[in-house]
Amino acid sequence: MNKAKFITFEGVDGAGKSTHLAWFVEVLRKSGKKVLVTREPGGTPMGECLREILLNQSMHAEAEALLMFAARLEHIEQVIKPALQLGTWVVSDRFSDASFAYQGGGRGVKVAKLEQLECWVHENFQPDLTLLFDIPVEVARQRLSKNITLDRFEQEEGTFFEKVRQAYLERFKNHSDRFVLIDASQTPEKVKENLEKTVLCHPIFKER
Ligand code: TMP
Repeated sequence: MNKAKFITFEGVDGAGKSTHLAWFVEVLRKSGKKVLVTREPGGTPMGECLREILLNQSMHAEAEALLMFAARLEHIEQVIKPALQLGTWVVSDRFSDASFAYQGGGRGVKVAKLEQLECWVHENFQPDLTLLFDIPVEVARQRLSKNITLDRFEQEEGTFFEKVRQAYLERFKNHSDRFVLIDASQTPEKVKENLEKTVLCHPIFKER
């Protein structure tokens, strides 16, 4: 049997990653894998409380980064690592790359500070695979405009999301070994086809 893997889904709000995550998990389960689906911020009782605060309460950008990583520490120790040890694959809707994109790119928190937090909270523990759903900001904004309620991040300006997108692409460039870039501006069917062709053939699905 394959060693259990940790897979993360990333992208700007409106890229459609959550829809594709559901389908992807279904495919993994059909192939006989036990899969735990989780999310950030969140994934634990404490993390879900922090999510409520983070998505609704305005705060200093660095406080936001600290809370994201506090929730993450709890998530890794209480949920992600124990599941992997039991042979369960873990698929998370966002992880640390989101902090580099949103708090780093979007809010302007220094990358060196985020790297310190990353080192403190999970040092060498990184996803085995990260799917980055990339989309032009105006297309993502159009998709988001169909939502009835928008959280504190979704209400940000287009310029904020442009910075988030660029920071994600920078992360992709610097960690290309674990990233797969998905063109999320295509139709959902095309994205699915692309996922089937490129992602499910990835070496991590063949490792023993
Ligand atoms: P979601 O809408 O994908 O569930 O994510 C909630 C919001 O949280 C999303 O707008 C991105 C933001 N976020 C950060 O700003 N930093 C982080 O580290 C994470 C995990 C999410």
